[in-house]
Amino acid sequence: MSRFHLRSTIFAALLLTLALLPGHVTAQLGPPPEPAGNPLTTAKANLGKALFWDEQTSSTRTVACGTCHIPATGGDDPRSLTDPLALHPGPDGLFGGADDVVASPGVPLTDATGKYLSSPTFGLTEQATGRRTISSINAGYSSSLFWDGRAEDEFVDPVTMAVILPSGGALESQAVGPLVSDVEMGHAGIVFTDVLARIAVSKPLAVALDAPAELLDWLRGRSYAELFEEAFGTPEITAARVGMAIASYERTQFTNQTPFDEFILGGDVLTPQELAGRGVFVANSCDRCHELEIMSDHDFHYTGVRPPDDDIGRMEVTGLEDDKGKMRTPSLRNLELRAPYMHNGRFDTIEDVVEFYNRGGDFDARNKDPFVRPLMLTQQEKDDLAAFLKRPLTDPRLAGEEPPFHRPTLYTESGRVPVIEGAGLPGTGAIVPQPVALEPPMVGNPGFTVAVYDALGGADALLVIDDVDPGLTSPISGDFAFESIVLEGAGAGAGFGSVNIAIANDPALAGTEWFGRWYVTDAGGGGTEAVTPVFRFTVFEQIDHGDIFIDGFESGDVGAWTSSSP
Ligand code: HEC
Ligand code: HEC
Repeated sequence: MSRFHLRSTIFAALLLTLALLPGHVTAQLGPPPEPAGNPLTTAKANLGKALFWDEQTSSTRTVACGTCHIPATGGDDPRSLTDPLALHPGPDGLFGGADDVVASPGVPLTDATGKYLSSPTFGLTEQATGRRTISSINAGYSSSLFWDGRAEDEFVDPVTMAVILPSGGALESQAVGPLVSDVEMGHAGIVFTDVLARIAVSKPLAVALDAPAELLDWLRGRSYAELFEEAFGTPEITAARVGMAIASYERTQFTNQTPFDEFILGGDVLTPQELAGRGVFVANSCDRCHELEIMSDHDFHYTGVRPPDDDIGRMEVTGLEDDKGKMRTPSLRNLELRAPYMHNGRFDTIEDVVEFYNRGGDFDARNKDPFVRPLMLTQQEKDDLAAFLKRPLTDPRLAGEEPPFHRPTLYTESGRVPVIEGAGLPGTGAIVPQPVALEPPMVGNPGFTVAVYDALGGADALLVIDDVDPGLTSPISGDFAFESIVLEGAGAGAGFGSVNIAIANDPALAGTEWFGRWYVTDAGGGGTEAVTPVFRFTVFEQIDHGDIFIDGFESGDVGAWTSSSP
């Protein structure tokens, strides 16, 4: 062997060693792979974006995929940190223990007719998911999704059970799940054909307040059938196509413009502290699991966040005792925007997570990963590590939801959600019954549900909605609604009921304001009836995103689609 060859062999071996060093990253994060059976097209991604942000895909018309996956918070749910309804009681079923999970609110438990049922855990209000939301951004790199990996590589049409994509379809498999979950988006007993029927009768994004100009340009006021035709060649709205469209949109949602990506490309962009933090990250084997550009091995580990019996994680899928409590390693990209952390959302800050790893986790089990052990980091090292986990991993386009992360404004983010205000009158047990009014008061909404809870079980209840506050004594009429029901449940404060109102498809209703209360026949509070606080709403017209062209406005003209046309 010549000296030249020897030298190049040594050089090659050295390169190989470098490449094999854990955490050695060599390239900027590329776009996620596309399965052969579902190549990415603009039409499919646009359709997927409309579906992802359309709250009409949920039984109550109040929850879209995007409700729990907001780009400005890294594709995670900002409500987890702020909304009391985000709390799930965990395995013991009781609120207020260490096993509680900080998660995401979905829909109230609803039946197929749109009436609300009482959930044993959440009553009449929105139910929370059992785990913290995982980001839908950068989700296209793994061959299995969810904390336990139950959304698999092979995509099977949930209606026909035909294998649509033999591999590479984890996003597609995942996307068809939440639509038929009676916690996240669906009603009790929902099947996927119910979802397809709902999509077919909905005007795309009719409840969204506005949408990015490019998306409006593409929608042009067309029906979902027309949009499916453009994306897939024929107008059929099928489960496979819903999954493939949403997955296509999600494949456009990846963040590779972080300082870390520039650093990988050789850029001198990290501060000395961030660089030191990168050193702490590698020296303490964080990159054994949070590896490669995506900062995840997509594998399952028990790290001692909770006792393994609390949430058996991967074992739910494999049945293997050794998988008990294992969760899929989350990517660390955009971590800073995505609090709270871990599958149970129990850590509010990155510093809390660093402390968790520094003490070697909080619980032990036979299958705990040996790399999670006490690290004895100095305060300086902890600070450096936290600094590395923040700015360097965060794509600056997310916070302001810049393209491609721009999106429609949800109904629930608008001022259109009914407002509950004022005082009511108590009934038995000195309990004031409470109203529920969440759903879009939209012209032509065939199922606008309002409910009452915390009332006397079995009592008669009267719903009155009128153009003035009907007051604290039941009136004799109501122009919008006047309906009596018998409450379900037994005992003080345990009664509940709901009414499903069809709002006429009459444009003259748009802009009218209404006030509603429930009157429960219950003398236990001293008077003759218990009364809820008032709920107030203004009926809005279905937003016809096509009007902007009919009216000759530029699609970038906000006024053109926020004000409805006659
Ligand atoms: C009510 C809140 C909520 C809604 C609505 C919701 N999700 Fe999620 N999403 C979650 C939660 C919670 C998880 C984690 C659940 C688990 O792992 O058990 C999750 C996980 C995911 C993941 C997995 C990411 C990963 O890396 O494993 C993707 C992708 C995703 N959701 C996309 C969607 C899509 C698409 C829709 C609409 C069809 C949707 N979500 C609707 C809360 C929600
Ligand atoms: C043995 C594999 C493994 C090692 C080593 C590891 N992690 Fe993790 N990491 C995980 C898993 C798995 C989770 C999710 C655990 C859960 O929620 O139960 C996680 C969660 C996290 C989270 C929360 C992310 C989120 O979206 O909620 C952060 C931050 C984190 N790890 C940082 C680190 C740091 C810093 C180190 C090194 C000190 C480290 N990890 C070492 C596997 C690992």
